[in-house]
Amino acid sequence: MAYEYISVASEDGVGIITLNRPKILNALNLQLVDELVDQLEQMDRDPDIRVIILTGNARAFAAGADINEMAEASAIDIMKRNQFAVWDRISLISKPIIGAVSGFALGGGCELMMNCDIVIASETAVIGQPEIKLGVMPGAGGTQRLTRVVGERKALEMLLTGEPISAKEALKYGLVNRVVPVEAYYQEALKLAKQIAQQPPLAVQVIKKAVYKAGDLPLQEGMDYERNSFYLLLASEDRKEGMQAFLEKRKPRFTGH
Ligand code: HXC
Repeated sequence: MAYEYISVASEDGVGIITLNRPKILNALNLQLVDELVDQLEQMDRDPDIRVIILTGNARAFAAGADINEMAEASAIDIMKRNQFAVWDRISLISKPIIGAVSGFALGGGCELMMNCDIVIASETAVIGQPEIKLGVMPGAGGTQRLTRVVGERKALEMLLTGEPISAKEALKYGLVNRVVPVEAYYQEALKLAKQIAQQPPLAVQVIKKAVYKAGDLPLQEGMDYERNSFYLLLASEDRKEGMQAFLEKRKPRFTGH
């Protein structure tokens, strides 16, 4: 697939996807989301990529779904598009996705940010779910993922006013992991991605999956899931290598096997 609205790069085991529709603040049209998910899935299959960064530019991560594309469409048109099926594939990506977020992360942009596993935000980030101001509501997780992270009260305030919050406030509510000056947000995300890219890849993926089970499963089922995942990793080559390297006082060389 040739991409029109995203650009792609890689560096030291880190795949980098940049949303690239700057003139309209990376508004998410159907094609952009298709391109993005296609590339996420390719990177997920690529053994040379261990961590993925998803970013926009300093002014906008993404200002939401493309309103031009929605404005004229009927409810039935939009239902027939089944556009959220492609969004749902993002949560099947097994490698960690780090969001490097600056400027506007609104509507679908905020939902995309919430699909990232770790978020490094710039001080200039403006984060919110303004759909109500357009007479609608979020459709890609804005009432569900947001509520799980920030709690019902803050979610209701954000969703019912449509007013965005600052990066600092997002940090207070655990919606982002770190807030850094705008000059540094991308480098900070890259540094973190490279650090995680050094870890044993199987353990990284199994841990990611287990953490999300914590939100879905009752505690004892989650504990069982964790234990089975733990046993699975004990069967890996990287476990032998990690423990051997510790005993030999050297750096481990993880291969993902
Ligand atoms: C289409 C958009 C857009 C969007 C901005 N633009 N957001 N086009 N869809 N979501 C375009 C503007 O029309 C404008 O185009 C250009 O980007 C620059 O934007 P300005 O408004 O001139 O910039 P500024 O005054 O700085 O205001 C920035 C802004 C504002 C606060 C982000 O653009 C805004 O409120 N945008 C809409 C945000 C929003 O409601 N998002 C939720 C969408 S609904 P021109 O051609 O005039 O230069 C949604 C549903 C999700 O996301 C469902 C799941 C997918």
